[in-house]
Amino acid sequence: MTLSTINVHHFRNIDYAKLTLSPHFNFIVGDNGSGKTSLLEAIYMLGHGRAFRHAQSNRIIQHEQPELVLFSEIKNTNQQTHSIGLAKSRNSENKIKIDGDEGFRLTDLAKLLPIQLITPEGFDLLTGGPKYRRSFLDWGCFHHYPEFVHLWNNLKRLFKQRNALLKQAKNYNQLLPWDKEIAPIAEKISQIRADYSQQIFPEIIQTCHDFLPEYKLNCQYFQGWDHDTDYALILQKQYERDKLLNYTSTGPHKADIRLRIDNIPVEDLLSRGQLKLLMCALRLSQGEYYSKKNTQACVYLIDDFASELDNNKRTLLAKRLKLANSQVFITAVNQSQITHMIDENDKIFYIKSGIIS
Ligand SMILES: Nc1ncnc2c1ncn2[C@@H]1O[C@H](COP(=O)(O)OP(=O)(O)O)[C@@H](O)[C@H]1O
Ligand SMILES: [Mg+2]
Repeated sequence: MTLSTINVHHFRNIDYAKLTLSPHFNFIVGDNGSGKTSLLEAIYMLGHGRAFRHAQSNRIIQHEQPELVLFSEIKNTNQQTHSIGLAKSRNSENKIKIDGDEGFRLTDLAKLLPIQLITPEGFDLLTGGPKYRRSFLDWGCFHHYPEFVHLWNNLKRLFKQRNALLKQAKNYNQLLPWDKEIAPIAEKISQIRADYSQQIFPEIIQTCHDFLPEYKLNCQYFQGWDHDTDYALILQKQYERDKLLNYTSTGPHKADIRLRIDNIPVEDLLSRGQLKLLMCALRLSQGEYYSKKNTQACVYLIDDFASELDNNKRTLLAKRLKLANSQVFITAVNQSQITHMIDENDKIFYIKSGIIS
C-alpha cells in the first residue's frame, strides 16, 4: 500500500498541507520544532485513529481549532485506489470515511493502511514493559489472522465482566460460567500468537544476524501463564488471589516476547545504537513478512533516522529499506544525514514552522 497524496488540516503546528508523495522514499527535512514528527503522526493517525505521542486528541488538534481532518488517496499493488479520511473534533469520536462512505471502524482503516513505526522512543519495544512487545506481536496477529480481532474484543469484554464479578463473588462457582467462555478464547488467542511467533522469530533472528552479526539472538514467546497447564485450571487455581486483587492476574493479557543474547536480556547487554538497530530489525522483519504474505507492502515511518546510529549502521539500514521496496517516510534535521539515500524517484519536503515545501 502506498499513499499517493495526503491532506493535513489543523494537525499540531501544520495548519494546512497538501502533498503529492513518492511511492518510494519521502524525506522530511527541517529544524527542531518545525513539524517533522507531526507529519509522521498525521500519517500514523490515518492508520490507527490516534497519534503516537499522545492518545489525547486535544493535544493533537491545532490550538484554537475545533477539529483536525486528514485525507489520503492510497493505492495497492494492483493499482486499486481508495480514498480514506479521518476527522476528529475535541471530545468526540473519530469520523472515518472510506471511498466516500461513513460508518467504518478503526480496524477497517488499519487493514487498509498497515504501518511500521520507528521512532527514537521506540526503544520501549526492547526496554519497556511487556505491553510493547505484546502490541508488536498483536500487530502481526491482527494482519495475518482475520479472526484475531474479534477474539480479542470478546476476551476484553469477558475479562471486564469477570473482574467486576470478582468483587461480589462468594465462591468460585459463581465465576464458572464466565471462565467456561473465557478459557477457550484465551487458548485460541495464545495459539494464534504462538503460531505467528513461530513464523516471525526466524525472520527476526536472520535480520538481527544481518545487522549485528556478532550476536546470536534468541526469541521466546511467553503466553502469560504456565504453558503446561490449561487456562481454565489456572483461572480456578488463581481464584483466591484474583479475588484479593479484584483482577484476573494471569492470562493472555500478560503475554510477552523474551529477547536474549547468551541468555542475557538484550536491554542489559546492547548499547543504545545496537538496541536501535535491533528495534529496526524487529520492525523491518515484521513489515517484510507482511509484504511477503500479502503481495502488499506496508508503509514505514522513520522519525529522526540518524539518531543513535553511526555512519555504517545508517548505510546498513538504508540499504535494507531500499530493498524492502516500500513507501518510506524519513525525517531528518539535516539533509547531509540522508544525501546518500536519495534516488531519482524519491521526494524531499522541507518543513519550516509547519509549512511544507
Ligand atoms: N496542538 C498543537 N497546536 C499547535 N502547535 C502544536 C500543537 N502540538 C504541538 N505543537 C507544536 O508543533 C511543533 C512541531 O513539533 P514536532 O512535529 O515535534 O517538530 P519536529 O519533529 O520537527 O522537531 C512544536 O513546536 C510544538 O510546539
Ligand atoms: Mg521530531
